[in-house]
Amino acid sequence: MSDQLRVLVSAEAIQQRVQELGKEIDADYPDGPIYLVAILKGSFVFLADLSRAIKRHSVRIEFMGISSYGKNKTSSGQVRVTKDLDVNLEGRNVLVVEDIIDSGVTLTYLASILQQRKPASLRIVTLLDKPERRISPVEIKYVGFKIPDEFVVGYGLDYAEDYRNLPDICVLSTS
Ligand code: IMP
Ligand code: MG
Repeated sequence: MSDQLRVLVSAEAIQQRVQELGKEIDADYPDGPIYLVAILKGSFVFLADLSRAIKRHSVRIEFMGISSYGKNKTSSGQVRVTKDLDVNLEGRNVLVVEDIIDSGVTLTYLASILQQRKPASLRIVTLLDKPERRISPVEIKYVGFKIPDEFVVGYGLDYAEDYRNLPDICVLSTS
């Protein structure tokens, strides 16, 4: 068994796009704190870069754990909160930071949970979007890159917990 990697989005292209997203987000939001709610673990690299591309002084960082995939490449359809937030989001401007939106099942579930906490606003930013795979429609305010229906790793994304440290986003084929 051998894994093959092909660069789909280079580290340079990612950096450029993340800077653009940061500027757009900064311009869209009123003054005051933006609560970035990052979904563990895949979005940790994107969060680190995006948060630094938003130039206001008040950017709050929070983490949530959601599990939907296990070790497979396809969704189990089961979504569960593995780590909840420890702050109250009521009246806050909340921006969910996701690595990739595939079926949309995870985000649909998460958005419904967060909406119940009465944030002033709730939006989603995702680095990658695989629109062809959508089962559960979800409104995404900011998208880094739309990509074809291929399994990707790197820049935080994993396959069975490996490859998160790759600087580029690569298509993984296992044979
Ligand atoms: P969804 O519920 O199908 O939209 O799945 C979203 C989650 O599945 C993401 O947060 C990722 O953790 C994982 N995922 C979906 N596609 C990929 C991929 O191509 N590579 C790595 N993880 C993926
Ligand atoms: Mg994952």
